[in-house]
Amino acid sequence: MSASNTVTGKAIPAANGHPVEYRRVYVWELPVRAYHWINAIALVALCVTGYLIGAPIRAFYAAEAYQQYWFGWVRFIHFVAAFVYVFNFAARIYWGFVGNKYSHWNAFFPLKKSQRQEIVDVIKADVLESSLHGPISTGHNALAGLIYFFTFLVFVFQAITGFALYSSMSNSWLPRMFTWVVPLMGGEMGVRFWHHLFLWFFVTFVIVHVYLAFYHDYIEGRGTVSSIIGGWKFVRDKGEK
Ligand code: HEM
Ligand code: HEM
Repeated sequence: MSASNTVTGKAIPAANGHPVEYRRVYVWELPVRAYHWINAIALVALCVTGYLIGAPIRAFYAAEAYQQYWFGWVRFIHFVAAFVYVFNFAARIYWGFVGNKYSHWNAFFPLKKSQRQEIVDVIKADVLESSLHGPISTGHNALAGLIYFFTFLVFVFQAITGFALYSSMSNSWLPRMFTWVVPLMGGEMGVRFWHHLFLWFFVTFVIVHVYLAFYHDYIEGRGTVSSIIGGWKFVRDKGEK
């Protein structure tokens, strides 16, 4: 009996106990995993509370409006999550310079020809559901790395517009640094519009990202999903880089 290996396209003999030789590699260090899950929790909190700020629920309580504070809590959670998300992101940038090669800043750019080839291969696998033919990266694949880089740009944009909105309600130094953004974007309404629009970028990103994490776990068979929890991936020495 044999099962098709979707990475190499070759059949794996499943009869003996260990059909393929695997090596355990420590890919995601603790700071990367901590960043990932703090970021995921903060972003979900920001998306939910941001949506509620933009489209508040009319709560029919017996109490008078001035006796309720639920909207205040929604805003408070948005602002706390915003600070957590910004400083967590700053820590990840730092780790991009001191961490291992898989988390290094250059893992996010397809600088080599082989990485550009990998992008084509991964698009074929993800969109056309064909087999992965070329060697696959042990860390982020080149397409994932590039998409994370674009996502990081959106993180920065959302932080700038968020702090610009916050600057009219706070005297602390961080929001005050972004007061200039408000006139640049045509006033508070313009900033609010773009800040709101990018909520939907995150919603789309998360749906596609979680789907692809599980899909690559399935087609690569290397423990992709568990790697972002425990840090380890399982690699075959042949056909990997
Ligand atoms: C990165 C993920 C974020 C998402 C998805 C997000 C989403 C949103 C949304 C949808 C709104 C409502 C806009 C509207 O329609 O009026 C909002 C409001 C706001 N956000 Fe964010 N936001 C994020 C990050 C931040 C950050 C980093 C800050 C920085 C402090 C921030 C500060 C604010 C402020 C001040 C408001 C206006 C609150 C109000 O007027 O009551 N946001 N956010
Ligand atoms: C709000 C939710 C999430 C966001 C914003 C998010 C974002 C990200 C980002 C930015 C990275 C790159 C990490 C880095 O190099 O620093 C990443 C990697 C990863 N994420 Fe998520 N993530 C989310 C949820 C999840 C969930 C629920 C899973 C699994 C079930 C998951 C699985 C992974 C895996 C496996 C990687 C490493 C992927 C690779 O090898 O390229 N993520 N995520």
